[in-house]
Order: sequence, then C-alpha cells, then structure tokens
Amino acid sequence: MMNFEYCNPVRILFGKGEITKLGELIDKSLRVMMIYGGGSIKKNSVYDQVIKALSNHTVTEFSGIEPNPQYDTCMKAVDIVKNDGIGFLLAVGGGSVLDATKFIAAAALYKDGDPWDILLKQTPVKEALPLGDVMTLPATGSEMNPGSVISRVETNQKLFFGSPAVYPKFSILDPETTFTLPPRQTINGIVDAYIHVVEQYLTFPANAPLQDRLCESIMLTLIEEGPRVLKDPNNYDARANIMWAATCALNGFISLGVPQDWATHLIGHEITAEYGLDHAQTLAIVLPGTMQVQRDKKKEKLLQYAERVFGITSGSEDKRIDAAIARTEEFFRSVGQKTKLSEYDIGPEACDVIAKRIGMFPFKLGEQQDIGEEKTREVLKLRV
Ligand code: NZQ
Ligand code: ZN
Repeated sequence: MMNFEYCNPVRILFGKGEITKLGELIDKSLRVMMIYGGGSIKKNSVYDQVIKALSNHTVTEFSGIEPNPQYDTCMKAVDIVKNDGIGFLLAVGGGSVLDATKFIAAAALYKDGDPWDILLKQTPVKEALPLGDVMTLPATGSEMNPGSVISRVETNQKLFFGSPAVYPKFSILDPETTFTLPPRQTINGIVDAYIHVVEQYLTFPANAPLQDRLCESIMLTLIEEGPRVLKDPNNYDARANIMWAATCALNGFISLGVPQDWATHLIGHEITAEYGLDHAQTLAIVLPGTMQVQRDKKKEKLLQYAERVFGITSGSEDKRIDAAIARTEEFFRSVGQKTKLSEYDIGPEACDVIAKRIGMFPFKLGEQQDIGEEKTREVLKLRV
C-alpha cells in the first residue's frame, strides 16, 4: 500500500427530515446565497423545505445553474456575492449545482487574477467562502469531496479543479428528495457512481485488500439496488442505498494508498464538451473500450473483478476477462444506459476528434500514464 494522508471534514446529515436541521448549521449572522438549477427543487418539496428551514436567515436566491455548469453563469453569481456581502453559499440540487457553488466560493475570494486560471492553469485555490449543500441527485460524490467540474461553452472546454478549501461544511442527503428524479438522471447516477469505483479499483494490485473489498461492495450494491430503484422509484431503502453508495464511491476513502486510473473520465469530459452528452452517458460508452485496450496492464485486477463482482471463475484468463468486460456493458444496458457513440447519432469521425483533444493534454492518462492520442483513438474505435 502506498503512503497516504486523509482528512475529510464534511459533516453528513443522512435521512428523512434532515433538511429541517439546516437552520442550525449556518451562522445566522451570515447572508446566505441559495444556489439552484433549472427548477426541479420547486416541483418537489425541496425548495419549500429549505426556505422554511432558513426562515431566520437572510437569503438571496441564485437560480439557473445548468447541467454541466457554465463558467459565465458562475461569474454572474460571483458578482452578486461580492456586491451583496454574501457570507455563506448553499447549493440545493445535483452535482452541477454543487460544483458551480464550489467554483463560485473559490472565485469570490480569488485575488491572483482571472478566476478562469483556477480551471485552465490549475492555479491553487487558497481560500473560499464557506459552503454547504442539500443534494438531490446521487451520482458525483461532490457532496463529500473537494472537486468541481466547470464548462465554458465559448471555448468548448470542460475542466476540473480541486481544493480542500471547497469541501462542503455539511451535506444533507435525504433520499426522499430523489424520488422525483427522471429515469435518465437515476440511471446516470448509478452508472457514474459505478465508474467512479472502477477508476479507483481496476488498475494494478497494491496489496490493499480492504480497499479492494470496499470497492467490490459498492459495485455489488449498485448492481443490486439499481434495478430495484428503477422498478420502484419511491422505494426509500433502495434510494437510500444508492445515495450512500454514490457518496462512498467518490469521497476519497476507497482510493487511499492505491493507484487510480481516471482515463475514462477524462475522455468522457471531452465527449461532453464536444457533443453535449450527459457525463454518465459518455462514461458508459468509453469504459468498455478502456478495459479492452488496457486489458493486459489491468489483467490481475480484471480477473479479480470478474470473480468477485460477477462470479466468473471458469474458462481461460482471456475468456474470463472478455466475460467481465461484457458483463460490465450488460449491466449498463440493463439499467437503460446506451453504450455506443452511434446510439447518440455520433459518427466514427468522433474517434479522431476526441483523440486529438486528448493529444493536446500536457500529460498522458491512466494509472500507467500511457493513454494519449493513439490509445484514445483505439478505445473509441471499439465504441462507434
Ligand atoms: O437543474 P435542475 O432543475 O435542478 O434539474 C436537474 C438537472 O436537469 C435534475 N435534477 C437534480 N435533482 C433532481 C432533478 N430532477 C428531479 N428531481 C431531483 N431530485 O437533474 C439534471 C442533472 O443534474 P446534474 O446536477 O447536472 O447531474 P449530476 O449530479 O449527474 O452532475 C453532473 C455534473 O457533475 C460533474 C459532471 O461532469 C457534470 O458536470 N462531475 C462532478 C464530479 C465531482 N465534483 O466530483 C465528479 C464526476 O465524475 C463528474 O465529473
Ligand atoms: Zn463521474
């Protein structure tokens, strides 16, 4: 196992009715900006619950954060934060709203020039406004991690930044808020969380059996609970299990002391930037290709994955790996996620377009740092 240091300061409030505690979590002397998206929180009772819980606070609302949150929208919020003396940011919504809120929190206090540099040049974020969230879409793990992904339509980019300064002070996770998710978003959440685990698991052995088994248990939970929740969207227990699995999939815990991949994610982000697909839609396309192209380098973990997640124990090593890749794709399709570019009307030219974008990166992807333009093309050619 590799050395590691871990400190996760996020206070989690999990379960029915936890939103009522919101008022106690935010200092009343701070003006609060409540940040949300396109209005889903007004169609379920989440907006009303939050407003009621904050009845003794001064609240400014900022709505209209897009899925794949846009830089320009965030910067409009930054102006209001500065002009109105906002002291606390509350995200209410999915990963996009929370990621936008993290960026707004950082940009509002950024003193080293253009805040775009936080994303483009990865300039360090030393401070940020305090923030918290009411999460309504289990998927990204953003509620318990220090990361954020922001898009900019004018430059056709989708970029990541991370800083301990943007860990939420608290995250309220009430599974009942997820009852209203449309199937597309429920499916996206299951697939995104699953692939977060794969990125941290399917690399090479690091003598870390505890981390391996934690990963396998999250994947098995998603495989079991995913179909339940799709069949019965108001099943509290299934929603709760999906929600906690998604948080555990990307709160840093399963990656301690082990190598990580993230090639599928970085290729997926480029597909979203270029073609506008949802984040998890891109991942379900790319992952089977990454597994296939990297199968020799990931051999030992692929065989372990085959056995422990899918119970595949017979046949040659090659056959077992083939079966594990096929079962992974079958799982995505069984919950209703498409897995080929052509199913989104994207032609084979995308292989070149995306490969060239990856070729511009100043580093190579994957735990072996060997995925550049050529290998990306190989991966995507398997996914047309
Ligand atoms: O905007 P509203 O009206 O709220 O509707 C949203 C949005 O249209 C809707 N929604 C959310 N909760 C709902 C609901 N509809 C009904 N009922 C509810 N309870 O769902 C739509 C999608 O929301 P979005 O926040 O975009 O989805 P998600 O949570 O999947 O976030 C995706 C973004 O997170 C980034 C992705 O790249 C993408 O930009 N990621 C962030 C990560 C992180 N911070 O660690 C890691 C991930 O790998 C990922 O890259
Ligand atoms: Zn993801």
